[in-house]
Amino acid sequence: MDKISLKELAFPIIKAIDSFNYLLKSHQRRTAVISYHIGKELGLPCGDIAELVVAAAMHDIGALSVQERDTLIKEDVENPSPHCLMGYKMLSMFDIFSGIAKIIRHHHIRYEDAGKYNEEIRFQSHIIHLADRVDIYLSPDQFILNQKARVTASILEKKGTVFHPDVCDAFERVSRADIFWIEINNLTMEQLFSRMNFLSSIELNREQIDQFALTISRIIDFRSRFTAGHAYTVGRLAQFIGQVLGLDDDMCEKLLIAGYFHDIGKIGIDTAYIEKCGQLTDEEYNMVKLHCYYSGQILSELNSSEWFRDVVKWSQHHHERLTGNGYPFAIKGEEIDTGTKIIAFSDMISALMEDRPYRKRMSIDTAFDIIDRYAAENIDPDMIKIIDRYKAEIETIVDQCKQRAESCYDESVEYA
Ligand SMILES: [Fe+2]
Ligand SMILES: [Fe+2]
Ligand SMILES: [Fe+2]
Repeated sequence: MDKISLKELAFPIIKAIDSFNYLLKSHQRRTAVISYHIGKELGLPCGDIAELVVAAAMHDIGALSVQERDTLIKEDVENPSPHCLMGYKMLSMFDIFSGIAKIIRHHHIRYEDAGKYNEEIRFQSHIIHLADRVDIYLSPDQFILNQKARVTASILEKKGTVFHPDVCDAFERVSRADIFWIEINNLTMEQLFSRMNFLSSIELNREQIDQFALTISRIIDFRSRFTAGHAYTVGRLAQFIGQVLGLDDDMCEKLLIAGYFHDIGKIGIDTAYIEKCGQLTDEEYNMVKLHCYYSGQILSELNSSEWFRDVVKWSQHHHERLTGNGYPFAIKGEEIDTGTKIIAFSDMISALMEDRPYRKRMSIDTAFDIIDRYAAENIDPDMIKIIDRYKAEIETIVDQCKQRAESCYDESVEYA
């Protein structure tokens, strides 16, 4: 596998959070800009600044599954608060992000309470705490430079109690210049990352690729009990089907990852449609169809790695059909490659074998029957004939995945 930068790993996650909630999007970007300026002012080493900025850019990721999105952008929440722990949990399974996860875990800790914790509190957590509050104190209805004095005073009056004194001092110095405030409103995430040109590239091993993809898949899987584990199941099935079709190891690994990724674009779709009891209206269906396009957008950064290119393609093509009546590209025939067909099939079989708000899960025979009757021509009848011999194995995989997903989901809900 070729090398990949921290930016390429972070952007899919940042974009996934962004497409979920536009309020969170601007809040996280702004917190990252403020944190960056303070980190530079403090003279932190390059690696610490990189972790700080990535952590700030996804600091409220735990709020995707925890019902406190609205409160956390208003008042300072107690620590340890559910969204901090959840964010920590979501990211810590990917070892490249374990430092970032630790920073996020404590991003609402008051300075005077830091001693009460048995674990190490990373200095960057204190920076994000202050940066987060600067953004909350700023009103979107007033020109930012007119708020400089008021916001600075509100922060500095909590020096040594709520906020770390060194972080307060650095904030006081760096915020004297108007550019600090102007950039909160204007600097894009792209521009911010391009300032960190010291970011080195990382070569991920297989285990790390798996952890990374699972981290992303959990963002979407855990939004609804009905879809918990869907991406995981599609990945495992696609990998198995690749094996029975005789594809090489590397292709099978890519299929696993594409399965984990394929529905990430659903993060941008209203859960009400995904959990709707009953048939979607044409208008609702048109909205849901957007998810493939979003998947491609969210994962687009990964296209700079040769290895990930197929994975991104299969993810965004998983609703294309041989006959050309798929979406969103409406490609057809030979334009649809084997990987795309495998993901499309795995997606279908796994969806039919899952409970939905409006129906129970189907047996493997019924699911195959439906695909044979209504969908095989659209995917690849010859391929499906081969897969048909492995029904028992497929059923076992679906059951294993379902059990695993349910215990992970319950554990995460309990955690929250
Ligand atoms: Fe937060
Ligand atoms: Fe926040
Ligand atoms: Fe799917």
